[in-house]
Amino acid sequence: MSGNIITIDGPSGAGKSTIARLAALRLGLRYLDTGAMYRAVTYHCMHAGIRLDDPKAIAGALKGLDLQVELSLDGPMRVFVGGKEITDKIRTQEVTRNIHYVADVMEVRNFLVEMQRKIGENGNLVTEGRDQGTLVFPNASLKVYMFATPAVRARRRHAELQARGAETTYEEVLEDVSKRDYLDMGRELGGLKKAMDAVELDTSELSPDQVAESIVKLAKSRLKMQTRKIDKSALEAARRQAEEGKKQG
Ligand code: DC
Repeated sequence: MSGNIITIDGPSGAGKSTIARLAALRLGLRYLDTGAMYRAVTYHCMHAGIRLDDPKAIAGALKGLDLQVELSLDGPMRVFVGGKEITDKIRTQEVTRNIHYVADVMEVRNFLVEMQRKIGENGNLVTEGRDQGTLVFPNASLKVYMFATPAVRARRRHAELQARGAETTYEEVLEDVSKRDYLDMGRELGGLKKAMDAVELDTSELSPDQVAESIVKLAKSRLKMQTRKIDKSALEAARRQAEEGKKQG
């Protein structure tokens, strides 16, 4: 591993993607969205007619899988399967509901962890997920564990769904959030866990900008990193794109 690697782990709805993108943009680092990789394998299995309740079939589906990701400094991470872009298609609720079948399969995790480490070989990365600081990059230069109470995460998610016209109650969303926490934390390999040396950030009462700024400050003081001069419109565009991506998931 070379160069600077910042890992951001935490439960869904803690604001990781927006914050990771903003921090990456300010620090001039590439942004890796590892959740999108699990989403892509799930999408692939769903469309290849693989039985999701059959781990062996899911593992077998990796053989013919041509998964590519394209990282950038100021855009979202793009995802391709078999040369076709599926960046937006992996954000449906159907994919979200089925991810746990795929994320529980050890062969899938090994396959994606290897891909993630390969990407990390060039350093200069903000990577976001559940197991980045614990398993994938145990020697990362800075590790962040981001969380917010289930009530706050459910409230944010409920507001997003309502804005899109979905008819879900807050209670249903809260149940969904708790179920995902349970599945993500209980995963034997790559389960959600705070790394011993991670800095904890509670995002319950803070805006994405405030949290991103805390990470930038930590990177500057601990890693002696410099921030880039970026104009406000680039920051605003990154924030908007990250919010849009999240809303679809
Ligand atoms: O970050 P996200 O909501 O897009 O992630 C979707 C799912 O992918 C998440 O519920 C668990 C799984 N995941 C994982 O198992 N390991 C990661 N490093 C990232 C995501």
